[in-house]
Amino acid sequence: MASESVRLVRRYLPTQRLVHWVGVPAFLVLLVTGIALLVPPFSYYAAGGASRMIHKIASFVLAALPIVYVVLNPKAAKELLKESFTYTRDDLEWFKHMPAYFLGRTKGLPPQGRINAGQKLHHAATFIMFVSIGVSGWVLMFGKGQLGPDGLALAAMIHDLSMLGLTVLMIGHMYFTFVYDALSGMLRGYVTEEYARMEHSKWLEELPENEFVVKK
Ligand code: HEM
Ligand code: HEM
Repeated sequence: MASESVRLVRRYLPTQRLVHWVGVPAFLVLLVTGIALLVPPFSYYAAGGASRMIHKIASFVLAALPIVYVVLNPKAAKELLKESFTYTRDDLEWFKHMPAYFLGRTKGLPPQGRINAGQKLHHAATFIMFVSIGVSGWVLMFGKGQLGPDGLALAAMIHDLSMLGLTVLMIGHMYFTFVYDALSGMLRGYVTEEYARMEHSKWLEELPENEFVVKK
């Protein structure tokens, strides 16, 4: 039987994948150690023990990642930020198809660019909550002496709400990754042309030929 060849499209560079996949365990460690600090009876042991220390160490890894992204991929970082906060008429139309998209149906979806409208919303909300969790985290770490009980309680509330928001976003992000079989882009850097046409047809049309490879 003749083997069919598949055209693949480059989606992420190795450095972008590296930042993403160092970020995921750092985020999960912060989530687990953070919840241990928050929820009794774990908090009794966690606050005096390794959890607090691990949380602080992982927070430096997470905070370093946006800087590493900007240093290694300044153009991609700028595009990611700009695109995440720019919504076109097609994007607004895309949101009307969101319930069907949620169930894995893509029929009639308006054409989308490099990141679709749902991803834009995810990435934009992730950026905002990264800032709020980071700033409130530094306040909790360094502001203890200066802020007083009300200030610290406010910082803890912002930190906890951001944690909740980011966790909900991560669950949605993972759900869509597996429903649409998008993992190969972030694992190997390439997606099939068929997937790119279904999800990001505007982006596909604009890509130069050297972004494609043929796999036998
Ligand atoms: C730059 C990032 C971050 C910094 C600097 C940071 C820092 C801190 C600090 C200093 C505390 C107080 C620890 C203590 O009791 O002494 C804390 C608590 C906590 N962190 Fe983070 N953190 C960061 C990211 C995260 C992330 C990503 C999550 C989860 C997604 C998270 C979840 C929590 C939770 C749930 C608590 C317990 C808060 C409470 O007691 O009300 N943190 N964090
Ligand atoms: C096991 C958990 C995760 C999986 C399976 C996963 C999977 C993916 C995949 C497949 C993409 C590429 C989507 C595309 O082709 O456009 C992606 C991109 C992205 N993910 Fe995740 N992800 C996970 C966790 C996270 C977490 C925890 C965050 C942030 C808190 C995050 C933030 C992002 C961002 C910002 C992008 C866009 C990256 C860029 O354009 O450079 N992901 N993820």
